[in-house]
Amino acid sequence: MQLVRLVIDDLRCFQHLDVALRSGINAFVGGNGAGKTSLLEAAYVLSHGRSFRAGAAEALLRRSATAWTVHAEIRHATGQVQLLGLTRDAEGWRARVDGQPVATLAAMIGHCAVICFEPGSHALIAGPAEERRRFLDWGVFHVEHDFQPVWRRYRRALRQRNALLRGMGEADDHAPWEQELAQQAESLDGLRRRYLDALEPLLADLCGALIPELGAPILHYRRGWPAEEPLDSVLRGSRARDQALGHTRAGPHRADWSLTFPAAPSRAQLSRGQAKLSALSCLLAQADLHDQRTGDAAVLCMDDLASELDAAHLDAVVDRLCGRATHVLPTGTTLAPALAGAATVFHVEHGAVHPV
Ligand SMILES: Nc1ncnc2c1ncn2[C@@H]1O[C@H](COP(=O)(O)OP(=O)(O)O)[C@@H](O)[C@H]1O
Ligand SMILES: [Mg+2]
Repeated sequence: MQLVRLVIDDLRCFQHLDVALRSGINAFVGGNGAGKTSLLEAAYVLSHGRSFRAGAAEALLRRSATAWTVHAEIRHATGQVQLLGLTRDAEGWRARVDGQPVATLAAMIGHCAVICFEPGSHALIAGPAEERRRFLDWGVFHVEHDFQPVWRRYRRALRQRNALLRGMGEADDHAPWEQELAQQAESLDGLRRRYLDALEPLLADLCGALIPELGAPILHYRRGWPAEEPLDSVLRGSRARDQALGHTRAGPHRADWSLTFPAAPSRAQLSRGQAKLSALSCLLAQADLHDQRTGDAAVLCMDDLASELDAAHLDAVVDRLCGRATHVLPTGTTLAPALAGAATVFHVEHGAVHPV
């Protein structure tokens, strides 16, 4: 897909911005605090329902404003054009597709695939498990229609069991919710496993191109409960302990995966730069898999690209990006020489964006 036009109201430093984008690479260049990251956040929020920057959703709201809105006109590989809209105010979220309100954020997010590499992306490798589960589930959500209903049933059963653990209900009430949890957990686990199996060769290919010095990547998945035991029996056996904790410990909400290498058998042994390149490989592999499965390439946002990569790695990445029909939005304080000639360039200053 391609972002044809992006309209932003009252998000971060943008009071009102309306920018028409070209196909291929669109580079956004400007000084510190100009609004480059905010622009990418606006595109990203349509695809994830949150920012990639840490902090509360409220941080996106422009100071002294009461609601922010992002509209995007997107064109899919089929030629279909859609208008997506997302508003956030004191009452919550409102999402629209082609002008019609949709009941859930997921109903809008499902149309919009934006993947972002940015200065915080090393957390995908070295940070908390939650980052990795989000990465995994976003990928699965976009390529497996079963994911959303299964995930919703799982969350509901988990909430019910947690309420029971906190003393709301009879002990006899546990079993049906534990069975439901276990059943949905098996489905979730299967979907996630299948996704990572498909991601693995693409990831190997990217790591081979971007970080060959580390050796062949090893992707390891943990489902969130012991491998040999069905989840309902784990849950039955852990009621007393979970009651003391006040929540359910085992299950797919505790899943994790790791990426290691022969030259770095634990993630703690990766340098910051290597962790970034590993994260970039994961994100580009996710984009490749999305493309393969949906026939519609995800938009790639690359925040502060040149400051994150050295010249050789930057050349390798730009080479890779130029060779595909992907919409790529890199930002930087200057235009990276590798991008000169290959990109449509926009200047960003004080929350305004102009083609150069
Ligand atoms: N909620 C907000 N309201 C108003 N301005 C904000 C808000 N959040 C951030 N800013 C400001 O927006 C500007 C652009 O930030 P950012 O997009 O991170 O810049 P860049 O990536 O170009 O360095 C900064 O001056 C920042 O202080
Ligand atoms: Mg920035």
